Order: sequence, then C-alpha cells, then structure tokens
Amino acid sequence: MEASIAVIKGDGIGPEIVDEAVKVLKAVEKKYGHEFHFEALLAGGAAIDQVGECLPEVTVEKAKKSDAVLLGAVGGPKWDTLEGSKRPEKALLGLRKSLNLYCNMRPAVIYDALLSASPLKDSITKGGIDVLVIRELTGGIYFGEKKRQGESAYDVMSYSKDEIRRISIKAFEAARKRKKKVTSVDKANVLETSRLWRETVNEVASSYPDVTLNHLYVDNASMQLVINPSQFDVILTENMFGDILSDEASMITGSIGLLPSASLSDGKKGMYEPIHGSAPDIAGMNIANPLATILSAAMMLRYSLNLDKEAEDVDKAVKAVLDKGFRTKDIAKEGESWISTSEMGSLVEGEIL
Ligand code: IPM
Ligand code: MG
Repeated sequence: MEASIAVIKGDGIGPEIVDEAVKVLKAVEKKYGHEFHFEALLAGGAAIDQVGECLPEVTVEKAKKSDAVLLGAVGGPKWDTLEGSKRPEKALLGLRKSLNLYCNMRPAVIYDALLSASPLKDSITKGGIDVLVIRELTGGIYFGEKKRQGESAYDVMSYSKDEIRRISIKAFEAARKRKKKVTSVDKANVLETSRLWRETVNEVASSYPDVTLNHLYVDNASMQLVINPSQFDVILTENMFGDILSDEASMITGSIGLLPSASLSDGKKGMYEPIHGSAPDIAGMNIANPLATILSAAMMLRYSLNLDKEAEDVDKAVKAVLDKGFRTKDIAKEGESWISTSEMGSLVEGEIL
C-alpha cells in the first residue's frame, strides 16, 4: 500500500528518536512491499527558530493532507520565556485542534523483561499493569476561554454532550477489544462539567452491556493507580485529568521511554508521538530511548494505515530486543551496560528485516 506520513521531528531529542522510528518504518516498507512517502514538517521550537512561529500554516495544511503524522517532541528551556500563545507547546495544541484529534490513547504496560523497573513494590505490580488511558484531547480547560485581568486570571472548562459522547464511544469500543472494563474518571462531586460527563458516559454505556463501567473521582483514581493498578483496563477521562493521570500511569510502569501514544479523529487520520517530552538535557547525545517513538510508529501502522500484521511485527521486534537484554541508558539498571539511540533503532530494524 501507499501512504503519506508527515514527520515532525521537533526539539530536543525529537530528531534522534524520530530518525530511529523512520528507520524501522522503512524496514517495514521494504519487508512488506509498501510505499511510504515521508515529508518533514516544522513545528515547535525548531519552527520558531526557522520561520518565527511554532506552527506554520503550511505544516497544518500538509499534516491535514497526510495519512498520519509522526511526531518526536516539542519544547525546551530555550523557548520557556515566550508568552503562552507563542510557546512551542502551542504547536501541539494547534495540531490537535486543527486535525480534530479528540481521542488520545496512552497505553501504559509493564514489559516482562522490565518488571523490576516499576517504582512500585512487587506485591502491588504482581497483578500486572496494562492500562489504556483514553484522554479527551480537544476540549475542556485546555481550549476554553483564558484571560488575565489585572491581579486575577481564569481558564474556562466546558464540555458539550457531543464531545463527551464521541470520546466515550471510543473508550467502550477499545474496551471491547481488551478486558471489557471502563473506568470513567471525573470530579462529579464538585464540577458541573463532570456531572454532565458522568451522565453522558452512563448513556453511552447502555449500548455496551458487555462492558463493565465504573466511575471514580480523579483524586481517588490517582490513589488507586499506585495502590492497585491492576484493577484498571480502560481509563476514560477529560483533557486535564487525562494529562495528569497518563503521566502517573506511565511512571508506575517505570519505563516512560517505552510508552507510545496515538491521537485520533473520526476517520483514520492520527498523530503518533511518544509520551515523554523533548529531554533537552540529553539532546544530541545519542542516548535517548527511541522505543516509545518506534512503538508510536507501530500504533500508526495499526490505527491509521490498517497494517495490523506490520504493527505486530514492530511490537514483537521491540519485545525481542528487550528480551535479549538490550537496554538504553534510561532503562538500564545500575552497573548494567547500555546501548545508544541509533544502536537500539538498528537492532529493532534488524529484528524486522
Ligand atoms: C502532553 C503534554 C502536553 C499536554 C503539553 C506539552 C501541552 O503534557 O501531551 O501530555 O498538556 O497535553
Ligand atoms: Mg502531559
């Protein structure tokens, strides 16, 4: 098959990790006889430096025309002093909104080979961790009106039933392919948006009698994640709660450098990026872990390009490399030897070819 893939390397370690993911995608292309057309686009700090704005119009236009977007990471201290609307992060928000990527999927799993990497006690992780956080990505407080007035400021959090309904459907559909359990997280004891959220999720649930639904307040959910993570299958939540809980869910696996994400719209179009940030402190050193980006590319094969078998091939290649004991610095134990970003990418490539 033929597919057009927009590639946004971004800032910090972005270029290094994206290069490895592209290497792996090229291996898939070769092995299965596909034709992927990669097009490099600018966004984030790199775009600010080169063209004076974090999200050039041409990037949005071309991203819209492509089948999928692969992104490294954006941001860094260099641009931290810019005002809110000009920061590199704004590029991410702009891409999410203009491509209507309302469904953010962030799987947090512990790999067998890395069981000991979790900061939680064995007695807590023994039930396994395999959580899929489904975060609403284009609404809520992130996109409501914001204003600074003298000594005060506000950010409006609002949701419509339609916005809640469509993300809930995605969560129930995903749960059907997993352990058939949805935990919806809100703050319905305080927030009106959360009461609407809960009501709407309950309505959608009535069409999925085969899926179990429970509701948790966000404060309780954050506790449950560290005391009993194996109770979770799919966590469905709004934008900001999802931002926070997905960081927590990824951290308890102990290997944030391995966790991918997909941001999807109604059709096949999606944007794929690692969960971690641009890690400016280690940029250019060839020591970052490219696996989260490689696994994001696997999600892209699965969700945007309908290439399930190829996606599985990439997932398996990553697992094989880990099982053989290869580690990048971030996941190597004290005293254990580790390999570089590009060596890790080449090993995964080698497993595929
Ligand atoms: C994330 C990030 C972004 C967010 C930032 C960089 C705007 O934290 O993707 O989770 O808050 O959504
Ligand atoms: Mg975040």
